[in-house]
Order: sequence, then C-alpha cells, then structure tokens
Amino acid sequence: MGYKLKWSEYVLLAVIFAVIYSWILVDQFVLPEYMRPFAFFMIALVSLIFFFFIVKPEQQNSLAGFLSIVLGSVAGVTIILQHMIVKFDVSYKAFIILAGAVVTPFIAGGVYSVYKILLPYGGKVCPWWHAYTFDNKLRLLVQNPEKIVGPYIKQGDTVADIGCGLGFFSIAMANMVGQEGKVIAVDLQEKMLEGLYRRAVKSNVENRIEIHRCSQNSLDLSINQEVDFVLASYSVHEVPDKRKLFEEVSKILKTGGKFLVSEPLGHVSKKDLDEYVEFAREFNLKSLEAVKVFYSKTLLFEKN
Ligand SMILES: C[S@@+](CC[C@H](N)C(=O)[O-])C[C@H]1O[C@@H](n2cnc3c(N)ncnc32)[C@H](O)[C@@H]1O
Repeated sequence: MGYKLKWSEYVLLAVIFAVIYSWILVDQFVLPEYMRPFAFFMIALVSLIFFFFIVKPEQQNSLAGFLSIVLGSVAGVTIILQHMIVKFDVSYKAFIILAGAVVTPFIAGGVYSVYKILLPYGGKVCPWWHAYTFDNKLRLLVQNPEKIVGPYIKQGDTVADIGCGLGFFSIAMANMVGQEGKVIAVDLQEKMLEGLYRRAVKSNVENRIEIHRCSQNSLDLSINQEVDFVLASYSVHEVPDKRKLFEEVSKILKTGGKFLVSEPLGHVSKKDLDEYVEFAREFNLKSLEAVKVFYSKTLLFEKN
C-alpha cells in the first residue's frame, strides 16, 4: 500500500493543512478554552488519514517532519498576527499552540507506525479485513473476471491465482475451468485462504480449488505443476522478491501459457512495471498486449 508523493503534492498537502490549521487557530480565540484539545485532535486525525491512505511508508517520516514545520510556522505567524490585530496577549497559550502544531503530525505518524507494527507482516501485505473493501459484489461492476481472465482460460485448464486473497478471481476462474479443471489458490495469509474456502463452499466449487499457503519469499509450489494460466492480481507489489516470483511462475507455466499481472493504480510506478518486464524477459516470458482493467495497470506475458 502507499502512494509516492511528488513534490507538488507535498506543497498541496502543506497548503491544505495550513488552511485547516489556521482556521482552527483563529477559532481558538473564539471557541471556549476546553475546545483547544479538540482542535489538536482534529489535525492529528487529518494527518492520520493522510498517513494511512496515501503516503508510502518510506515517506511518512519526512511528511510528518514537513507538516510539523508548516504547522509550526502557521501557528507562529497566526499568533503574531493575532497579537498585532486583536492585541492578543502572547503568553503560555502561544507556546502550547506552537508545541501542539509541531508535535501533532509526529504523534499521528507515531500512532500510525505502531498500528502498522501490529498488522500482519509489518503492514507490508494487505490485511485480511481490508480485503473486504475491494473483494465484494460492487467490484463486479467495474472489474468483470469474464472479461479480464476469460480470454485466457478454457474448460479443463489448470490455473493459478497468486496472492488470491479472498478469492475474487479464484472463484470466478473455478467456474471457468469447469468440473475437470483446477484452480491453485496461493496466498501467504491463512485468514485469506479461510475466507476463500468459505466462499468456494458457498459457490459449490470447493472441489476445483486447491488451496496452497506459501511463504513470503517463495510460492513453494512443486515445479511439476503444469499450469495453463497464472494470474497475479494486486499482489506482485506486496511480494518482497519479485524476481524470484517471476522465476517461480515461469517454472510452473506450460509453454504457450499466459501470465497476467494486474496492479492497482498508485501502487506501482512506470519504473516498477519496467522491472517486472525485465524479470519476465529473464525467465523466458514474452510481453504481449494486455487487456485494460479499470483502476489498474496490467501486463501480459507468454511462456516461450
Ligand atoms: C491486495 S490483495 C489482492 C487479492 C486478490 N488477488 C484480489 O485481486 O482481490 C494481495 C494479496 O496478496 C497476498 N500476498 C502478499 N504477499 C504475498 C506473497 N509474498 N506471496 C503470496 N501472496 C502474497 C496477500 O496476502 C493478499 O491476499
């Protein structure tokens, strides 16, 4: 997870925070005393939302520092202006406000870091409960498995779903391969695989799905598997050793078999995708034109 902020976006964030913060500060002198902690709580909450939903982990510390400088400056300027315009008495209150402005983004960043430590795999993989936000019926409106993977799958095929999660594609692929086919659903999180199994039972396709728990650094699949098609949807960016992933996928794919990689927008850069193509080439996977997928970047490969 995480979006790499550009400099222009840092500036935009700074402006947004400055506006919110100066508004809170001006209100400080109108609102009763007890509302002050609420103002700091608000800014911490807004920062937390930014850290949580937008920023790449390696940028979180620099963003916290940057916002602290911006908010500290806004607080300082506001206090001076208040002093000049309404003859506000610069007392201990000003220092409390300044200190609050400087530390709140750090507190928000700290809370977020602790929260991430508590997540599975240090927050580097999608938590199981988060998967419900994108693996649901609404997604079918914008991502139709029939259109995305249907062209590469026929009845009787053996296919693999790498980082299958709760099985958005595994279940659909189990219907596509039919009674004689098989889906190897691979994930490193037990909770995801349990969720997938429950859904497979509900859809009556559990006997076509082979559930396989892998480790973080290897798919741990037998190379004797002869797979016709491999899908890695929204998972490659979470795999630490991507080169090895391509090597392992290439080993299980039949000659002429296809490998479709789909990544969510904002999670991978052009450089990341070029690297995927490079790894693929190294392991005998030729690039082909990929289908377009809503809110995604896709790559399609064929085993030579
Ligand atoms: C964002 S979810 C995508 C789930 C599903 N493919 C989809 O499109 O809805 C990413 C999945 O990749 C799995 N994953 C992360 N790192 C992995 C690894 N090294 N090997 C296998 N699976 C991994 C996570 O556990 C998670 O279930």
